[in-house]
Order: sequence, then C-alpha cells, then structure tokens
Amino acid sequence: MKFEKEIEDIKNEILSELNLSSSKKEIEDIRIKYLGRKGIITQRLKDIKNLDPKVRPRHGKVLNILKSTIEEELERKGQEVPKESREEERFFDYTMPGDRRWLGHLHPLTTTMDEIVDVFVRMGFTVKYGPDVETEFYNFEALNMPKDHPSRDIQDTFYLENNLLLRTQTSPVQIRVMESRKPPVRIISPGRCYRVDNFDSSHSPVFHQIEGLYVDKNVTLSNLIGTLNTFAKAIFGESTRTKLTPHYFPFTEPSAEVHVSCPFCKEKGCTTCKHTGWIEIMGCGMVHPEVFRKVGYDPDKYTGFAFGMGIERVCMPRYGIHDMRLFFENDQRFIHQF
Ligand code: DAH
Repeated sequence: MKFEKEIEDIKNEILSELNLSSSKKEIEDIRIKYLGRKGIITQRLKDIKNLDPKVRPRHGKVLNILKSTIEEELERKGQEVPKESREEERFFDYTMPGDRRWLGHLHPLTTTMDEIVDVFVRMGFTVKYGPDVETEFYNFEALNMPKDHPSRDIQDTFYLENNLLLRTQTSPVQIRVMESRKPPVRIISPGRCYRVDNFDSSHSPVFHQIEGLYVDKNVTLSNLIGTLNTFAKAIFGESTRTKLTPHYFPFTEPSAEVHVSCPFCKEKGCTTCKHTGWIEIMGCGMVHPEVFRKVGYDPDKYTGFAFGMGIERVCMPRYGIHDMRLFFENDQRFIHQF
C-alpha cells in the first residue's frame, strides 16, 4: 500500500498549494506543475507502461482518480478566485503616462555661482580656487588683520589643530594668487566659508562667497564701480542700480558696501528688501598698500580693487527666498522649484 500512501501525500500537497493560491496565475502554475505536459502526475501516468504488469491496473486506477480529483479542484478553485485578482482580466490602460523619473539638477546656489562666475569671466577674470582649511597668516595676517585686531571679532572663527582654521572669507585666495605671480592680476574665487554663527533665517555657519581682485597699473575706483555695475545689471536685470556706502575693511582703503536696487519692488520697498528699496550684497574697496607690501608688490607702482560677495545674499533676492536655512536642508520640495 506504499504507492497509495505516496499518491495520497501528493494529493494533499496539491490541495494545500491550491488552498494558498489566490489568483488565476497561481492556479495555472499549479496545473502546469502537476498536469502539464511534463507535470508530475502526467509523468507518472506515462511511466505506467514500464511497471510490472501485475501492478499496472492498480496504479493506473489510483493515478487516474488523482488526476480527475485535481482537475475538479482546479476548476472549483478557479471559480472561487475573486474577479479583481484575476490579473489577466485587469484593465490595462496603455494611454496612461509612464512612471516619472526624477532627474537631479543643480542647486540654486550652484546655478547662481555659475552665473556670477560667467559674468566676470566675460569681463576677463580668471577663476582661482583656494583651500577651505587655511592658516592664520592667509586668512587674517596677510589681509592686514593682525592678532587682537578688533576686526577679527566679527568673523568668529572655527579653529582647528596646528594653527589651522576654516577660512572665514574667500579673501585669503587674493594673497595666495598675488604671492604666486606678478601683476596684472584679474581673478575671481568662488568657495565655501565658515563662521561660528547661529543657523537662522539670515545666518548659516557655512556659506558661500565670491572674491574678486584686479591689480595693475592705474586701476581706479571708477574701474571698480564700472565692473560692479556690469555685474549687477547682468545678474539682477538691466534696470538695476548700484550704490556704494562707506565702510571699513582692514584690507581695503577706501572701503565700501555695495547695495543693489531691489529687483522685486524697484526701490519702492517690499519684504525682500525689508522696505528699504536696497539690498546689501558685498564689500569692496581699493587694495590696502599694506596688503601689497605683504605679498611683495610695490604699492607706489600698482593699484587694485577687490570685492567679496555673499552668494546666498545674491541668490535670495533673485528668487524671493526669505530663509537661508532652505539652502542647506535639501528638501526636495524646495530644490525642485529651481
Ligand atoms: N571678506 C569680506 C567679508 O567676508 C568681504 C570683502 C570686503 C572682500 C571687501 C573684499 C573686499 O575683497 O575688498 O566680509
């Protein structure tokens, strides 16, 4: 009776598989596995002819009963499976749009930085990069900011080991470039800067600047003003005006802050310009003779202008962004708007 037991086991196995199936596809797979051309039951029926003639009728009978039982069960289960899970009957709409693929794209700060760099490159400036990790000499001393000089206080610094620090401004690149060559020099230098600062709507401990430096014989304040006007019109629109107000920077004399007319309200006053009509975007000035001496340039022979602008400061009014934190949070809902 070993054979009958074996068939009984096969039958139970098929019934439990059927029990677990829940779609037409699964039921069909079971049918193929057991009753298909190479199915297990089909194969056993074919093998009967090789058996001892004495057992052939018995085996044949048992297998045929199994076969018809399974056929009935398959049929019954087929009726039972609910309509919606019959995959082959599911409606497929070929006119539906396909899955959308999200493409990456540039961050608004990168786009703004690239556009600013482009404007200056068209005016003949070359791009130079400097290290984020600087020495006190390049970040402060060579820029006429000796130790204990009060101007260091407003640039609260992240100090590292071995007298290194995270640069607080891109101005040290001026020194590195001037040290490495003779005038004329006409460079811009974009990059990251770091200051111990709160992370709030208008401050971030990491931010971006573009430094500019032009040194040659007879470079004047008018050259600086002309260059800045060209920049402001290219970035904020043809009708943009610029205004310089006196300021103090240790590495320039005279020094000024540069304001552009608000691109949103055209000087009428709005939330973007805090109702002043103007937006402050950078510092600038004529290179201080002391800075020239530090790099071995003769201040009687050469003059130059320099400027340093905050890229966030330029980007925010262009797009009407009121919170600097948005730049650094990497929220896709923000980033994908640009
Ligand atoms: N480094 C200054 C800052 O971070 C900005 C600046 C002002 C750069 C005047 C200059 C300059 O090159 O001439 O506040």
